[in-house]
Amino acid sequence: MSARLTEQQIRQLQEMVLLHYEQHGRHALPWRQTQDPYCITVSELMLQQTQVDRVLAKYLTWLDVFPDWQTLAHAPFRQVLQHWQGLGYNRRAQYLQQTARIIQKEYQGALPVERHPLLKLPGIGPYTAAAIRVFAFEQPDIVIETNIRTVYLHAFYPDEQHIHDQQLLPLIEQTLPKGNLREWYYALMDYGAMLKKAHPNPGRRSAHHTKQSAFIGSDRQVRGQILRLLTAKPLLSRKKIEQELHIDTDRLERILVRLTQDQLIARSKQRYTIYQG
Ligand code: ADE
Repeated sequence: MSARLTEQQIRQLQEMVLLHYEQHGRHALPWRQTQDPYCITVSELMLQQTQVDRVLAKYLTWLDVFPDWQTLAHAPFRQVLQHWQGLGYNRRAQYLQQTARIIQKEYQGALPVERHPLLKLPGIGPYTAAAIRVFAFEQPDIVIETNIRTVYLHAFYPDEQHIHDQQLLPLIEQTLPKGNLREWYYALMDYGAMLKKAHPNPGRRSAHHTKQSAFIGSDRQVRGQILRLLTAKPLLSRKKIEQELHIDTDRLERILVRLTQDQLIARSKQRYTIYQG
């Protein structure tokens, strides 16, 4: 596959993707109805490792409770975790609140537009920075995530393995339409999501493909259970947590140590509580 596409290849891809969006696009997703940088950041952090349906169940309530950076920055962390519950990977909630505090302190309440300051914020990597720049600020960035990868692998590398993002980026760039990039990237995401349902997932052929590890029985599950217990009952001894979770002492101790290091929980005398920085 040469890196230069013909005009015809470009037009064909654009037409196919945009026609699918016109007919089947998820236009009504609430984060697609806004350009507010706070709302876009919240949605992108929620969507990083969580399915759209589960994010839909949380996103609007989150915005009711924490409508802006300032409210989030001042909220008790326990309340923040409470409203993250069900999304998993709780460190994202912590990152979002840390970001809110930095925005308040260092940026007078306004999310930066430029890539470098965005990348310095907790929880914001190259994908999220690019997504925020396109969806909130209409900057012409290259966005690549799992669904978008799927579109380009399917269209241009149908028979190859271990395709690197470096090979896909020039293709994404060449196929960017002149007009509305927000809509274009939403259309790509939806087309990729459709392809995943219709074909054995082409994303597996990416060099960047990772599968989420099994959740049931994992430390990640236990971490979530501990945080859930502590958001409901603020101070619990290790013994009490052990009884509630039916988990062996050594494993629980190891997980509690890590949660403490991550500043998700804290120990006060012999009891644990949600961290409050
Ligand atoms: N729809 C599905 N995933 C999305 C994302 N990460 N950003 C915007 N819209 C989406």
